[in-house]
Amino acid sequence: MSEEKKLFKVTIDNIQVEVEAGTTILMAARKIGGDVVPPTMCYYSKLDKTGGYCRTCLVRVAAGSAADPRPMPKLVASCRTQVMDGMIVENITNPAVLEARKGVVEFLLLNHPLDCPVCDQAGECDLQDLSYEHGKEGTRYEFKRRTFERIDLGPYIQLHMTRCILCYRCVHTANQVAGQREHGVLDRGDHAQIATYIQKSLDSNMIGNVIDVCPVGALTDRTFRFKQRVWFTKPVDAHRDCPECSGRVRLWFRGDDVLRVTARKDQWGEVEEWICNTCRFDKKEKSDWTIEGPTRLDRHSVINAGHYVGVEKPKETFKEVMNGRDPKLLMDIHTISDVNQVDLHGIPGPATSATFNGNPTATGTNITDVKEGIGRNQHGTDSTNANTP
Ligand code: SF4
Ligand code: SF4
Ligand code: FES
Repeated sequence: MSEEKKLFKVTIDNIQVEVEAGTTILMAARKIGGDVVPPTMCYYSKLDKTGGYCRTCLVRVAAGSAADPRPMPKLVASCRTQVMDGMIVENITNPAVLEARKGVVEFLLLNHPLDCPVCDQAGECDLQDLSYEHGKEGTRYEFKRRTFERIDLGPYIQLHMTRCILCYRCVHTANQVAGQREHGVLDRGDHAQIATYIQKSLDSNMIGNVIDVCPVGALTDRTFRFKQRVWFTKPVDAHRDCPECSGRVRLWFRGDDVLRVTARKDQWGEVEEWICNTCRFDKKEKSDWTIEGPTRLDRHSVINAGHYVGVEKPKETFKEVMNGRDPKLLMDIHTISDVNQVDLHGIPGPATSATFNGNPTATGTNITDVKEGIGRNQHGTDSTNANTP
């Protein structure tokens, strides 16, 4: 008779769960799900030896085990701490944990740029979510942030080292998935950076997966960069017969164009199946794929904005009661109004893109003055407006 596996009883935020010996606190919390699950920035369940770097998953162990119920003296990283039978863990029920997490977020953001408006990761960035949910409003850091030049890691990937949080996920992915690692974390402390010697390109056919595991916008897809904000794209699950990988991917559409191809991610934001570079970078035609259907995303995701699956629209009766007339004609005032005839550039005030001559040496106290190349604006409209440059 096979020996039954012993299960440990663990209580996390007053919810009890039974897990096998050897399970980490984080995975026990994931078994419960919901808000009890600590956030993670470096741990990745699909990769070995991850976790233990970022400290965002800190929790308090209020009782070590049934046999030794003393609390652990310090907060512990839940992704690296295994459960014991009778262990009691506090996550969101302990204000000290939340306070410590704020400190961790502040620390992660010490050198982070305010790039979100131009960053390709915005809208699906773990650091954005973490800062929003667990961060402070301000920072106490007063020093100059460290900056790096952008580096092309081969033809498909660009590294923005300024955004990197040194989670090591890409290093483990290159080691374990791509099978060859030509990059790593060089130097230590404030000088630590992800780099390749002599900027050697990463040419494994599975290396594109580093883009998906990167929790921030440090590793970006060069075939997608600046093409579109992710919330304007429509994710769809699709597959193809691929000799290199499972071929099961997520396509991101804008209209009928496939703007990017990524691996599918699970509810923890982790890749379900690794995909090859050919699927990711070379198959950008709709006809390359068999479409399975719209991706079901967490309803809180910003990517969900404007995408509704299975929604039944109410019957449109306007046209019916208008005897077949198109309802938009009701609002068509252009034929009877002069509103479009006004030349906005002719109105005294701040220069517009059509009138500003961009002469950087011109003098004046506002943009119109600069355009005119004269002193104070005689109309007075701009000079008294605090919002005018
Ligand atoms: S990596 Fe995330 S937090 Fe950083 S700039 Fe990009 S979107 Fe913003
Ligand atoms: S580049 Fe991205 S995945 Fe790699 S260490 Fe930096 S943040 Fe992590
Ligand atoms: S996720 Fe646990 S230390 Fe980073």
